[in-house]
Amino acid sequence: MGETRKKVTIKTLQSMKKRGEKITWLTAYDYPTAQFAEAAGMDMLLVGDSLGMCVYGYEGTIPVTMDQCIVHSEAVRRAAPMAFVMGDMPFMSYQTSDEDAVRNAGRFLKEAGVDAIKLEGGVRVASRIKAILAAGIVVCGHIGLTPQSSGQLGGHKAQGLTVASAKLLIEDALAIEEAGAQLLLLEAVPPEVAGFITRKLSFPVLSIGAGPNCDGQLLIVSDLIGQFQAFTPKFVKKYANIAEVITSAMTEYIKEVKTGAFPSDEHCYHMLKGEDKEFEKSIAEEYE
Ligand code: KIV
Repeated sequence: MGETRKKVTIKTLQSMKKRGEKITWLTAYDYPTAQFAEAAGMDMLLVGDSLGMCVYGYEGTIPVTMDQCIVHSEAVRRAAPMAFVMGDMPFMSYQTSDEDAVRNAGRFLKEAGVDAIKLEGGVRVASRIKAILAAGIVVCGHIGLTPQSSGQLGGHKAQGLTVASAKLLIEDALAIEEAGAQLLLLEAVPPEVAGFITRKLSFPVLSIGAGPNCDGQLLIVSDLIGQFQAFTPKFVKKYANIAEVITSAMTEYIKEVKTGAFPSDEHCYHMLKGEDKEFEKSIAEEYE
């Protein structure tokens, strides 16, 4: 399937919204996983700064650097040439100035060949979005639960649960549209609010924990395959338990090495016919 699919572009995603076809989106951080996603026909891949937790074992996303994001984005791009690949701007890569935002967004395209970048925030990042767009880069906004500013939100909490907070989200979404972004991600937002924003905006609005009324869904791959162990957000559905599969394979390997069951004859390279006898004779003469 991966070889015959057409390249997914921003135009593809826009027409999917128009005809009501749901967009599928998953994070990916490495070559093999991105290959599987490409073969499965995933529309979009996000090289999220969640790689801090999912790959590096950090407690959150704050320590993640641009260099780490670029290395992982390059690998994902190589594995998934047809999917719409997005780089995620890590903490302090765009907060400081419009210039830093453009320079770092540009690195994602120049060094990793991604199709778009994502940054967190609404009204307060409108000038960053405009500056990045002026450089010719497709931008995805991200509002609701924004992990990089979870300290200000009082933790990893759902947003828009009250009318006042829902209206702030709508203001943020409208500011993002006005700034010229072409995609929006809503994280941990009630479906009523997400549905309203999705209908209101002309471009694709995607959900991670924002219910079924959006134009598509995003999940963290490490959650979907049951690899991430530290915690499981309410919005996650685990489609596999890869941790169990991997641990049981490793336990079996340890057992077989300890008992001598592995490696067996089928895993051995044998000497050429006749050479084995010659070898025995020769080492007996020379070394014993
Ligand atoms: O880094 C990431 O994977 C993200 C998701 C949590 C939306 O930004």
